Amino acid sequence: MKRETLKTRRNRLKRKKLIKNSTRIAVCVVAALGVITIGWKIGAPFLEKEGGLAKTERPVVEIQAAETEDGSGAAGIAQLAEMTKVPYQAPGWQYDNTGWWYAVSGDTYYQNGFADIDGKTYHFDGSGYISTGWTPIGGKGYYFDENGVYDETADSSMMVALTFDDGPGAHTGELLDTLKQYGAKATFFLQGVNIEQYGGDAISRMAAEGHMIGNHSYDHPDMLKLSAEDAATQFQKTDDLIAQYNNGAGAVAVRFPFGNTSRELEAIAARPCFMWDLDTLDWKKKNAQANAAAVLDNVSPGQIILMHDTYQATVEACQTIIPELINRGYELVTLDTLAAAKGVELQNGVTYYGFSDADIEAGHISDAGE
Ligand code: NI
Repeated sequence: MKRETLKTRRNRLKRKKLIKNSTRIAVCVVAALGVITIGWKIGAPFLEKEGGLAKTERPVVEIQAAETEDGSGAAGIAQLAEMTKVPYQAPGWQYDNTGWWYAVSGDTYYQNGFADIDGKTYHFDGSGYISTGWTPIGGKGYYFDENGVYDETADSSMMVALTFDDGPGAHTGELLDTLKQYGAKATFFLQGVNIEQYGGDAISRMAAEGHMIGNHSYDHPDMLKLSAEDAATQFQKTDDLIAQYNNGAGAVAVRFPFGNTSRELEAIAARPCFMWDLDTLDWKKKNAQANAAAVLDNVSPGQIILMHDTYQATVEACQTIIPELINRGYELVTLDTLAAAKGVELQNGVTYYGFSDADIEAGHISDAGE
């Protein structure tokens, strides 16, 4: 009896050791595979350098036309330039320094439409690269995950865009902390003089943390009263300052001081321009509770909310506003995400007012064609 117990115990120990060893081997195998995968992903753009397919160089010689010109139908098939090699096995996924694309054969690829591959739906742009994130296609917003897989369950009906003008200011860092805490994104329209005064640390954070950076002039003049040259200088000085803290890139959007604009100024801005459709008047209230109420009592989906991160009361109000909006089911997004999700392809030199369902239905989202 006793001996049998010992034997059982020994067997159990043996089994334990065996499991431990195989686990160790399995972990090693998984780790090795991981290293190979990561190495391949990092290596891919470099491997591709010879005969690379930069987006601008890619010719579109259609073999099979896309179902629709606006890319909302089945993808077409185009031919690669002579002498250009498909880097990896075809048919199959390919990667180069612009992004992922799909070789249908040794010298053809999908472009300008949707294609089902291995049971998943992808979208290819006019140059044949996959779309990711919210993408406007044929007047509708589609969501593709980071691998480019279409997610038909993604919902843009409860999005709003918080926008902050005139900064950076003494409290912008605190606001960035609050946004980060709740995974919220915002758009900042910056003033050159305040970048000089408060430095660019906040701008580096905005860029790193996925916020959108806009230009709000150098020192907030009424630009309708400026010469074209002076107006251009207002944007240029601020773009140069932003670029110092934003990997060399200036602002991607413009908001005019006081919202005062003209066709000529829009052309000088040469980027999408934005107004707002919920004005908190926080610059007048300077009271956290009143600011929070201004948003929470009036908010509706698709709105562009105007605030100023230069006021402590506004930054304080956001500690209430942001979690409460999320609690109500809102998603706080940048202006470019909001537009894309609503199916709007932003154009340079056009001013956008807001993206509520009513305005979209009425065709009143921008001054394009007015
Ligand atoms: Ni302003």
